[in-house]
Amino acid sequence: TAQEAAAQPEPVPLPLTRAAGCPFDPPAELAELREQQPLRPMRYPDGHVGWLATGHSVVRAIAADPRFSSRYELLRYPLPGGPEGALPPATLGDLTGIDAPEHTRYRRLLAGKFTVRRMRQLTARVEQITADHLDAMERQGPALDLVQAFAHPVPALMICELLGVSPSDRAAFQAHTAMLSSPEAGPEELMAAMTALAECVRELVVAKRAHPTDDLLSDLTTSDLTDDELAGIGSFLLAAGLDTTANMLGLGTFALLRNPEQAAALRGDPGLADQAVEELMRYLSIAHTGVRAALEDVELDGQLIKAGDTVTVSVEAANRDPLKFPDPDTLDLHRKATGHLAFGHGAHQCLGQQLARVEMRVAFPALFRRFPTLRLAVPPEDVPLRDAMNIRGVHRLPVTWDTSDTW
Ligand code: HEM
Repeated sequence: TAQEAAAQPEPVPLPLTRAAGCPFDPPAELAELREQQPLRPMRYPDGHVGWLATGHSVVRAIAADPRFSSRYELLRYPLPGGPEGALPPATLGDLTGIDAPEHTRYRRLLAGKFTVRRMRQLTARVEQITADHLDAMERQGPALDLVQAFAHPVPALMICELLGVSPSDRAAFQAHTAMLSSPEAGPEELMAAMTALAECVRELVVAKRAHPTDDLLSDLTTSDLTDDELAGIGSFLLAAGLDTTANMLGLGTFALLRNPEQAAALRGDPGLADQAVEELMRYLSIAHTGVRAALEDVELDGQLIKAGDTVTVSVEAANRDPLKFPDPDTLDLHRKATGHLAFGHGAHQCLGQQLARVEMRVAFPALFRRFPTLRLAVPPEDVPLRDAMNIRGVHRLPVTWDTSDTW
């Protein structure tokens, strides 16, 4: 039976490193593990033996099953170099580390604020902000770092829009968030930026309560949330929405530059943008790994997961499962990539996904239309990758273009 230890493969550590020269493909070992057994024992860095899910259907099932908890204090960290043993519980306002019913309360309050009207308003803003940054790139001229010039500031300003940060406070906000994403920042600078940002958000909450404006944070002040909760949620939205979108824009552009026929298809057909964004999300799976803990014994895929076991879900492996996506390792913007798990699945599925989609649907086509000759300014292997981090991406993306082509 499933419980017989002899029938089980040896626990393996989580394969994590993308191969040099293959910055878009999950570690090759994941494909082998998925083929052998899509749910199998895994050894965590702290010695705990739990599980690793790599198949699309089993990853999806785990994410949708309330018998698996997201509470940080029940989880073990799956990536090497992280904290050992159980994690500290979620800070106030962090939705990803809590379960129902606490989670449900926050989730309902927040979901009600990501309205169609708000998204439409934000679409107009992202179009303007994108155009402004492309103008600035053109004025600056080649070559430049696309992360600094475009991929980071556009989503940073969109979070400011969402939270209603006033134009006069934006520079400070952006300086702190840029520091948080900077590969050169030391631990002390990171800590200082985090503290400063939390302070900015707290002041913002107080200001919005006194003088509400037309933004999500002001909307939330009319709920029964306390200032502490609002400040926590504001900081969490910043953390959840910035690095993710910025790295999708950075790594996504890198992937399009390495697949010029796909970039050309996007440039030639603006109607392709919606589909293209889903395929880039699937193909890149930047939020590559999730973690849950079994609250009770669960039988799944012929295995018995015991209460207390940690289960790591490999989103990047699931999104390359050939049983779900034929020819999964090919970037094909014409593919229907619906059903990918790159925004998560189940109760914790990304709350900001409509905003993230709007940003990407606007930004990718606009960038490639404005700079038809956009290309890497360094050999691809010299692009510094974010590896062994929660969110995959690029630290910098040096690009260049022919100035005669833009106008
Ligand atoms: C949750 C990915 C953009 C807000 C998640 C989860 C994933 C994810 C995988 C699920 C985590 C889990 O199951 O534990 C992404 C990616 C993005 C993106 C790849 C960009 C391309 C955004 C934006 C916002 C946002 C722009 C808002 C400003 C959230 C929130 C949650 C979340 C609030 C927590 C939901 C919950 O736990 O109920 N995101 N996200 N995300 N995301 Fe996003």
